[in-house]
Amino acid sequence: MITALDHIAIAVVSIEEARTFYENLGLSVAGIEEVEHEGVRVAMIPCGGSRIELLEPLSEDSPVARFLERRGPGIHHLCLKSDDIDADDCSLREDGVELLREQPGPGAEGATVQFVHPRSAGGVLVELSEPAGSRS
Ligand code: CO
Repeated sequence: MITALDHIAIAVVSIEEARTFYENLGLSVAGIEEVEHEGVRVAMIPCGGSRIELLEPLSEDSPVARFLERRGPGIHHLCLKSDDIDADDCSLREDGVELLREQPGPGAEGATVQFVHPRSAGGVLVELSEPAGSRS
């Protein structure tokens, strides 16, 4: 089941440059992590009950690098928090929703994640994420 809006992700050329805007608003970067298999550096900025995620490509062949090339910096995906990613994966599959991974797998912060193709979600890339430590 989906329980919250976990974060909104923004593709940026440079976390160091992009973070200033949010810091000027009084928000702070809680942590920066490299997610090698996604080819990104990730900065998490808590904001009320949700978060803003800045995504910086680690290399030119990273999917985020291709996104920046095609569309420039901007909103990349939104992430919904799941309390049971396997169950949500299964029911979306049954509904014919197009998922990007064959099964949920590792994401940032040790979470288990799946992605919904924008074709199945009104033109928006949607990440589903079950936080680390909540998997049975
Ligand atoms: Co994300």
